[in-house]
Amino acid sequence: MYILGIESSCDETACAIVKDGTTVISSVVASQIDIHSKYGGVIPEIAAREHLKNIDTVVNLALDQAKLSLDDIDAVAVTQGPGLIGALLVGISYAKALAVSRSLPLIPVNHVQAHVHASLLVDDDDKLQKPQEESELFPALAFVVSGGHTNLYRMNNYTSYELIAHSIDDACGECFDKVAKLLGLGYPGGKLIEELAQKGDPHRFSMPTVMSTKTMMFSYSGLKTHMVHLISSFNEEELKTNICDICASFQQAALNQLAKKILYTKTIYKDTKQVIIAGGVSANMKLKQILLDHGIRYLAPKLKYCGDNAAMIAGFGYRLFQENIKTPECFYDYSWDAFSRYDFSK
Ligand code: KG4
Ligand code: ZN
Repeated sequence: MYILGIESSCDETACAIVKDGTTVISSVVASQIDIHSKYGGVIPEIAAREHLKNIDTVVNLALDQAKLSLDDIDAVAVTQGPGLIGALLVGISYAKALAVSRSLPLIPVNHVQAHVHASLLVDDDDKLQKPQEESELFPALAFVVSGGHTNLYRMNNYTSYELIAHSIDDACGECFDKVAKLLGLGYPGGKLIEELAQKGDPHRFSMPTVMSTKTMMFSYSGLKTHMVHLISSFNEEELKTNICDICASFQQAALNQLAKKILYTKTIYKDTKQVIIAGGVSANMKLKQILLDHGIRYLAPKLKYCGDNAAMIAGFGYRLFQENIKTPECFYDYSWDAFSRYDFSK
């Protein structure tokens, strides 16, 4: 079964075609990073306009690369939220029109939950990797660590998500982005901080341990405030000399919190078969090293599927379709009124 997935929740316009929930036939991502980086973050209005410009090309490219036509597609999956409302509407409207005009089922997909499915994807031309057996995966602990969320789910199957912990304030990726902005590094900050941290000493500056390890919840606002004070205590010259050590110390504190919480949660959910990490921050190599240092084996997405993409949307869409999850009425109603009644934060 071929699912065409569409993603437009933030600053990536993406389309992918995935076979039977795991095999990626094609995946196209048009990033707007260059446009937003000069503003130091995503400008929602610009993001929506760029999606509108790109979406048709991106969808056609995904079909071309898959050597398939719309006649071969069995269903359309689309990010329903959470995300920027204007950006979401472009993807949803396009997906809706495609589904209606081709009489295809339309599957709305939660973006945060879909990140987990990025870890289960296998490329069509990858002869070495096999899809994971369901019996080896569940029950699983799934950590989505992105720019908007730091969520921990307990999963008993592909579509059951019990949110057992989340950040009580800022998301981990957002914290990376803000610290990078304070350091004048640019947007998005995670990768830039990771690169500088490789040349720095993670023990040079002491960092706050923001929350007890004996709770599952995450918190990043304290660390962020600490970084504001630390960075403002340096003059320009000192900042330049110390930047690698600052990045390394910050990164260690931000990632250690994740590792400690994963360890603690595993002691409570003893029957966990698989720890899954996903979302933009799961691209961080140091995070993977810290997890291994703590003896945590994990499943992570390939680098190209850590950030926002449509393959994860199609992958999760397939699982939802298997369970006959009903599409909300407003997805087939073209009036603004129908959309305004819909809760895009879910
Ligand atoms: O999942 P994602 O692409 O978008 C959201 O759904 O938010 O995550 C983007 C976030 C950004 O905050 C970015 O700075 C962070 O992921 N990120 C990283 C790395 N690569 C991306 N954070 C730490 N280390 C990285 N290598
Ligand atoms: Zn995301």
